[in-house]
Amino acid sequence: MWELHPSALGPNDGPFAIVGHSCALYPRLPGRDSDRGTPQSLSAVDTCSWDAEGRPPGSLQLGAQDRGPSCTPVQRVLLALTPTLEKLQEVKGRVLEALEQGLSRQSGARSTMQMLPTFICSTPDGTENGDVLVAELCQSHVRTLWVTLTGDGNQSPQLMYHVFEMPEDITQGSGEALFDFIAQCVKNFLEEIGNPQHRLPLGFIFPFSCRQTGLDKAELISWSKGFRCSDVEGKDVVQLLQAAISKQEVGAVWGSRLGGLPHAENLMVPRSGTNCCFMAESHLLEMAEVTSGRMCVNSEWGCLGDDGALDDVLTPCDHRVDQESSNPGERRFEKMVGSLYLGEIVRHAMLMLASEQALFIGRNTSILATKAVLTTQQVLEIMDNEDGMAKAQGILEALGLQPSERDCCRVQQLCRAVVSRAAALSAMGLAAVLSHMCRSRQLERLVVNVGVDGGLYHTSASVVGLLAPECAANLMPSADVSGLGAAMVTAVALRTVAQRNNMERLLAPLRLSRTDLQRVQALMRQEMERGLDRERNAESSLRMLPTYVCHTPDGTERGKFLALDLGGTNFRVLVVHVAEDNIDITNEIYVIPTAVMQGTGEALFNHIMECIMDFQMKQELMDQVLPLGFTFSFPCQQLGLDKAVLLNWTKGFSASGCVGQDVVQMLREAAQRKQHTALKVVAVVNDTVGTMMACGYHDPKCEIGLIVGTGTNTCYMEERAKVGTMDGDEGRMCINMEWGAFGDNGCLDDFFTSFDRLVDEKSINAGKQKFEKLISGMYLGEIVRQILLALVEEQVLFCGKSSHKLQNRDIFQTKFLSTIETPGLALVQVQGILSNLELDASYEDSVLVREVCQTVSLRAAHLCAAGMAAVVEKMRESRGLEQLTVTVGVDGTLYKMHPHFSRNLQQMLQELAPLCNVTFLQSEDGSGKGAALVAAVACRGADPSSPQ
Ligand code: BG6
Ligand code: GLC
Repeated sequence: MWELHPSALGPNDGPFAIVGHSCALYPRLPGRDSDRGTPQSLSAVDTCSWDAEGRPPGSLQLGAQDRGPSCTPVQRVLLALTPTLEKLQEVKGRVLEALEQGLSRQSGARSTMQMLPTFICSTPDGTENGDVLVAELCQSHVRTLWVTLTGDGNQSPQLMYHVFEMPEDITQGSGEALFDFIAQCVKNFLEEIGNPQHRLPLGFIFPFSCRQTGLDKAELISWSKGFRCSDVEGKDVVQLLQAAISKQEVGAVWGSRLGGLPHAENLMVPRSGTNCCFMAESHLLEMAEVTSGRMCVNSEWGCLGDDGALDDVLTPCDHRVDQESSNPGERRFEKMVGSLYLGEIVRHAMLMLASEQALFIGRNTSILATKAVLTTQQVLEIMDNEDGMAKAQGILEALGLQPSERDCCRVQQLCRAVVSRAAALSAMGLAAVLSHMCRSRQLERLVVNVGVDGGLYHTSASVVGLLAPECAANLMPSADVSGLGAAMVTAVALRTVAQRNNMERLLAPLRLSRTDLQRVQALMRQEMERGLDRERNAESSLRMLPTYVCHTPDGTERGKFLALDLGGTNFRVLVVHVAEDNIDITNEIYVIPTAVMQGTGEALFNHIMECIMDFQMKQELMDQVLPLGFTFSFPCQQLGLDKAVLLNWTKGFSASGCVGQDVVQMLREAAQRKQHTALKVVAVVNDTVGTMMACGYHDPKCEIGLIVGTGTNTCYMEERAKVGTMDGDEGRMCINMEWGAFGDNGCLDDFFTSFDRLVDEKSINAGKQKFEKLISGMYLGEIVRQILLALVEEQVLFCGKSSHKLQNRDIFQTKFLSTIETPGLALVQVQGILSNLELDASYEDSVLVREVCQTVSLRAAHLCAAGMAAVVEKMRESRGLEQLTVTVGVDGTLYKMHPHFSRNLQQMLQELAPLCNVTFLQSEDGSGKGAALVAAVACRGADPSSPQ
């Protein structure tokens, strides 16, 4: 039984596509390869095209000498109807201006191009499949259509349609009657084709100027093309149809998924009216308030020239046509291009020439004063190369004009000039749209398909080429008798919604609510307390390591120091000169090859020593014994300022024989092996500590160090009384939390998604550093890669096709997230990144990939905020303060390079810890500077240059 469901079109049931004609994404019908829309296939174009020298179209090519006052009246009229290429170029500039003005919220109202958002954000991509029902309101009929797309690349879409003639009075009657009629047509159609067993999505093609606020919400701005139904203007036509359908008890609900066809990104409809829509960059479309991706915009370009912008191409005939129309002064472009008016322009041209005795001399031409005696169809017949003359003879005779052969020939010239001008003008408008698309997409060259509908004549491809040489437009004529294009809009809407649903389903676990973050914050707090408790320390995933750093810098530190910085993206050796008024740093970056990171400890420390010696040679420091501060960014149990036992490796290091050893001792042994006697290691610090100290030198409130780079971690100044794992109650000590390991005891497992689990399982330290694996630069790209693989699997991305490259671990680097999320980045650059991964990404794919990146990086920033909220709140409470004001010294490539990470972190931190006033201070010179400052404190009172 067919399910009749009155609420079928309710908003919860899914998309209800409402589109104007120009928005139909006209596909190529299968088996019509020969119609591919190459310019050659447009025979009408050839007859109207400009010649190789760029001379204007039309049957008469006038040379410069013909432009003088000696022109005959016929030549004068023809000339006026034949704008030069220069003129068209000039007008194109004005159209481009109007177009861009129309996109802007501020100036939009002043523009003649309304640029109405359609909320259609995708074109067919070949993955649509399923059943679609469409109702299309046309000039004199309603067409209903049922299409089944079988997901076979649309080799064989099955369709059934019915055209219901519409009584003329319906177009002038009440809105209710119109919509009842349409609903009745849908009902009859469904009865005719049998009773489908499932609910169907319905698309409604409504070719009038509408203000759309959603795919299924469209308010009619004003009727045109002779329609004048009452009580429709200003109303949502979807609701009106929905109400009518409810009355008829017709049901059609969204549901299934669809399969695709080659797509056009523009569509021009020079039918009775003229219009053009195109896929615009959403961020430029201020009215739609959608910032990402593209949206189809209905330009309503028929109104071009209503502000006088076309005055210099209007002829006296155009003015007369306008004056006699029902809307004088309005839709001036449409009145030069739309087929409703072409016959009228020729009629007025004949009338003028007749009055000047240049045509039908001695005949009674009063018939020419009657509106619409010459139709556009007749104009096209007269133009015909073969029997046009005979047609002219017949048509003019039927009007009682008794034409001579010469009259027929001239009328034929007039017809050709009027039609050629319409073709050239629509080409000019299209060229403006293409140039805008090319410019706004930041492309050097735009290659695009343009669906052209209207059938009566075609736009001039060669003029488009001359006016927009930077664009290659493939004009695809649409012989869309069946309305398949209209169905495709609905199909695309369905596909988009299905994709979005799948994407949402996959991404949902990564979207953390405020409550989730508060839970993470509470867990972090609990783990901190346990980690500081001597008895419960082993239960906690946070080691809360004392660092033996008890003060932040006070500005009295002095001296010259060596520093090492190992464990971030770069290994650096530095010489740091701390003077009274400044700190001078010279450093060199060295590479640690992966083989060395993952080889033996001896080889690793030998390599480090070689780098130090190379640096000392270059800096001519071989003779000096400088105290050395060592930033060693791995978890260490410190037994003193210069004694640190490595607890475990992180971040891809796994050199053997190091865990459980004092890293300072290992460095000293390497020095001995290299017979380098002048090495005096006085302090070893974690990078968080080095960063806090480096920033603390500039801001005494800096009592927290944060790293969000390859790894992530935090240290902070804790009250010694709260550090149960150490003796002593006085003052504070910097605690290296090693928060990267938060959750290694399973307490975060609820927040781990299937993607996170895959990343963890495939890492060299599975089950370890779980918080780090949700946040830091070493892992975010990999999480994104796992999500992309899942989205390909679900057919949401890249038409279900992955690449070999994407199968490789770590191929999707975290720096891609930073690039892809850069505001205003042209999506072709996203496509570029993806194509380097051998992924054939459509525009829509790029939008989705960007959303994946945003979701992953936002989660990372928010988790980091939850962790930091626990830290600052703990500090506030430990100090018994109502309000805490503190600075976080921060470093790390992700924090520094990602366009939104820091803002997202700070905003969420403020929400989660409202009683703390937290400032973030970026470390400028790396943590080696901080290690040198710690060394300076250690050397205070001692002679910094005496060897140990
Ligand atoms: C550097 C610090 O600036 O940042 C290092 O000097 C630190 O000590 C590093 O480890 C962290 O960032 P990344 O992105 O290099 O891991
Ligand atoms: C890892 C290390 C930690 C370091 C952090 C940032 O988490 O274990 O010691 O601070 O990375 O580099």
